[in-house]
Order: sequence, then structure tokens, then C-alpha cells
Amino acid sequence: MTTIPDHPPLLAVEHLSMRFGGLVAVNDVSFSARDREITAIIGPNGAGKTTVFNCLTGFYTPSVGRLTVTHSGGHWLLERMEAHRIARSARVARTFQNVRLFGGMSVLENLIVAQHTKLMRASGFTLAGLLGLPVYRRAERAAVDLARYWLDRVGLVDLADWQAGNLPYGAQRRLEIARAMCSEPRLLCLDEPAAGLNPRESAELSQLLTFIRDRHRIGVLLIEHDMSVVMTISDHLVVLDYGRKISEGPPALVRRDPAVIRAYLGEDEDGDGDGNRREGSGGW
Ligand SMILES: Nc1ncnc2c1ncn2[C@@H]1O[C@H](COP(=O)(O)OP(=O)(O)O)[C@@H](O)[C@H]1O
Ligand SMILES: [Mg+2]
Repeated sequence: MTTIPDHPPLLAVEHLSMRFGGLVAVNDVSFSARDREITAIIGPNGAGKTTVFNCLTGFYTPSVGRLTVTHSGGHWLLERMEAHRIARSARVARTFQNVRLFGGMSVLENLIVAQHTKLMRASGFTLAGLLGLPVYRRAERAAVDLARYWLDRVGLVDLADWQAGNLPYGAQRRLEIARAMCSEPRLLCLDEPAAGLNPRESAELSQLLTFIRDRHRIGVLLIEHDMSVVMTISDHLVVLDYGRKISEGPPALVRRDPAVIRAYLGEDEDGDGDGNRREGSGGW
């Protein structure tokens, strides 16, 4: 019998480990994330979630493991690539657990800067190009159009000229997502985008992320504590605890997994439970 090979996932994480001295922050973790799906990584604080993102986006070189992105007829081994190539060639974009915008620039400028590689390429990396060759002017117009499109999607068109650092917190978080989308990624990695949002803003975030998945047809990798967001919009869940993967699957199954319930409720080894083991683990 011949077997038809499965279409490779957008992201395959295989046996990823990351050590900091004696601390094993991520311990032999494997999972995959598919195109046009939202894959959520959840787990108590300190479980290793952000470290996985830092390995994927070239901030850390993994101690062990293979990280493969496949799309557009090509594949990229992220663990061998530098951060800027991961963003440009493998088209992996991210946001951070703590807001990192150019606070002194306007909202619109933040979105144009996100497209600077594209613009510099259109200029041929020359002054003449910058000074107005038609190809550069076209690229510049396209960059502004894309920025306006995402400002509209995240409800910030009216605030385009505001200094980013002066925006309310929820708006800054939305601007970060818009900025990541302006780099036209195939895999969008979001680190706790709902943190600090009120319930209405969280619901809007859920709508934005499903819009990105369904209309822009890319993969989303989501680290999130807000279970109302995770359980509503995720197609696939990966649960980490103490650096290890303890569960994986569709949300409806994972939420009933005894290992996951134990990690969140904080039972001791002997099973007598001592309340929330680590702060910020959320509930559902
Ligand atoms: N650069 C680093 N140096 C040393 N330890 C780190 C570093 N980054 C993360 N850690 C440790 O790795 C573990 C996992 O951290 P992190 O990935 O931030 O967890 P999470 O995002 O799930 O809360 C924690 O114990 C954290 O202190
Ligand atoms: Mg984190």
C-alpha cells in the first residue's frame, strides 16, 4: 500500500530544548502549527512559552531542536537563521509580551517603518531611488495603502497622526498587531495580546484574530492566558508546564485533560492540591 505524504505543516517544532545554564526552560517540545489555523500555546507562568517564541524568531539559538517553516513552495530551518532573515524570508512576525512600539513616532510612521525593507528594495538601495524613481514612489504608495488598511482593521484610522506612545494601552496592543501584519507574514506569533485588555477589547481582539486567519489565510501562533479568548478562537492547543508539553489537541478535549487541570489547579505530587501554583495561570 502506498501512503500519500501529509502536507507539511506551516510550522514544525521538533524536539526543541532551550537551556539557560542549569535551567531547562524548554524541554524536548514538539508540536506543529497549520496554515489558516490559530494554534494557542498555554501554560502557567514560567512554563517556557515566551522562550519558544524567542527560539522561533531568532532571539535565542535553541540548545537542541529543529524548527521548520514551510510555505510558498519553500522551507526554512529557523534554528539556523538570524532574526532579520526569519522575518523577511521565512515571513514569521511577532509581537512581544510587553508593548514595543516606537513611542515617539506617529501611529502611521510605526506601520511604514515596518515596511522599510520593502521600500529600500524598491529604491535599489540608492539615493536616486529614494529621491523619487517611479518604482520607489509606487512602493511608497503601496506601503501607505497597506498601513491604512490595517489601521482601519484595528480601528485606529482616526488616530493615525497620534504619537504611538500616547495611545491608550489597548490601542497600543492593536497597533502592534497591525505593525506585524504590515510585514505581510505567513506565521503571526502573538505573545499575550489580551493581557491588560478589558472584556470588550478582548472580544474585539478575538474577532481581529479570526479575521486574520480566515481572510488573510495565514497561521497564527498565540500565547494567551485569557481563556475566553483561547477557548473561543483556537483550532489547536499546546499546553506547556515546567518546559514540557503536557497536552495537545482541540480545545474541547484539552480542557478536560486531567494533566492540564492539575497544572492549572496546582495539585502537589501527592495530589492534595494547594490552589493556584503560579500566579497568572487564569481559569476557564
Ligand atoms: N534569558 C534568560 N535567561 C535565563 N533564564 C531565562 C531566560 N529567559 C527565560 N528564562 C527562564 O525560563 C523559564 C521560562 O520562561 P518563559 O519562557 O518566559 O515562560 P512563560 O512565557 O511561559 O511565562 C523561566 O524560568 C524563566 O525565568
Ligand atoms: Mg511569557
